[in-house]
Amino acid sequence: MTDLLVHPAVGPLVGSVPVPGDKSIAHRAILLAGLATGTSRVRGGALGDDNRATLAALGALGVAHTEQAGALVIDGVGLHGLRAPAGDIDCGNSGTTMRLLAGLLAAQPFRARLVGDASLSRRPMGRIAGPLRLRGARIEGRLDPSKPGETTAPLEIGPLPSPHVLGALEYDLPVASAQVKSALLLSGLYADGATWLREPVVSRDHTERMLRALGVPIASLGPMVELDGPSWSGDLPAFDLEVPGDLSAAAFLIAAALLVSGSRVGVRRVGINPTRTGFVELVRDMGGALEVAARGDELGEPLGDLLAAFGPLRAVRAGGETLTRAIDEVPIFCALAARARGLTVIRDAAELRVKESDRIATMARVLAAFGVPCEERPDGLVVEGVPDRPLDAADVKSHGDHRVAMTAVVLGLLARGPTRVRDAGCIATSFPRFVGTLRALGATIDVVDGAEAHS
Ligand code: S3P
Repeated sequence: MTDLLVHPAVGPLVGSVPVPGDKSIAHRAILLAGLATGTSRVRGGALGDDNRATLAALGALGVAHTEQAGALVIDGVGLHGLRAPAGDIDCGNSGTTMRLLAGLLAAQPFRARLVGDASLSRRPMGRIAGPLRLRGARIEGRLDPSKPGETTAPLEIGPLPSPHVLGALEYDLPVASAQVKSALLLSGLYADGATWLREPVVSRDHTERMLRALGVPIASLGPMVELDGPSWSGDLPAFDLEVPGDLSAAAFLIAAALLVSGSRVGVRRVGINPTRTGFVELVRDMGGALEVAARGDELGEPLGDLLAAFGPLRAVRAGGETLTRAIDEVPIFCALAARARGLTVIRDAAELRVKESDRIATMARVLAAFGVPCEERPDGLVVEGVPDRPLDAADVKSHGDHRVAMTAVVLGLLARGPTRVRDAGCIATSFPRFVGTLRALGATIDVVDGAEAHS
């Protein structure tokens, strides 16, 4: 167990830093490189544990890779080249790995079993199993007695029953989910009919963009997307990609800059896909100084440089489709809310209850530990922000959730004494160099062995 001891900031955070490649884009790049014909190169800084889980899963399915000078070199096996795994495939903490792989495995002529850690084993999988079955897949999960009617991991998938081909699918997603949408689109690559999906609001569209850039016939109109599998050649070309930086990782550095007096922080080459930029809009609504300079695109994904500076913030109401486009940034947005004058209301965020932790409950606990008044609601939080009050020094648990841990670190910079963030190793899920990056900007954070404290 690793704990972090965060010291209150005594000066501004200043500098320009990189962040790891976008986790969502990297998952898709690794999967599609594995299914391509030929050798692809995927570069993207320090890959987190989640992306490594996808890489290892593909390895178990017969896709070889090497790492050369910071690039993943992946030897694609072609759409029909995956092989039966010798044992269980461990998706670790990664919901994206499990759900996207489930879509792919649903179409294979062999059986595979997907397992995950304790957190992933509690997360809902009926949302992919249901629609995949509708198009003919064989997929079984565990019926969790604590969640009546819900299917959870381990998932047993395949082999695809005779006639060994998935059918067309027309499906309205009950909740916006890029993981569900992507699983269904990936299964659609193997179907003998079209895949037509509609979401209540648009979730991140990285799968659509990457497939389109690789020549797959896929069209989107607002929250609707259609993949025309049968009219496609079935051949994915190999590609080279420098994965844009992860806006969801950059958000922690942006927030630290907005909150620590006098700070000015730049983050280079960050993905600014509009289905992900809800946080940028919320920061601006709060009156935060955040500039975005566009810098072209990579395989259909726009990117830009970000610059954030300290300044006063005001409370806002966050909900609706903006919230969906900021869903992973809600924990760190709560840190901004703690310092934004007035009551910030976060709603339409019930999905947070089924992320790596129940993020509504865990953030309410973390905010309370820092002395920030907040109210937990079924679909969100109300946070009372006071601009200048130093926060209480806290002793908080990560709850095994990387984004909760990083939020606690940022809040610790604003406290009146040292803050302990327990079980912070989970930060490596998405941002292995988080502590080093904050130190480079001027923060003081000690890594301490938490074993004693836990015994
Ligand atoms: C992701 C989709 C989102 C997000 C998750 C990553 C993806 O979940 O919260 O961290 O890479 O597709 P949903 O499936 O709920 O949209």
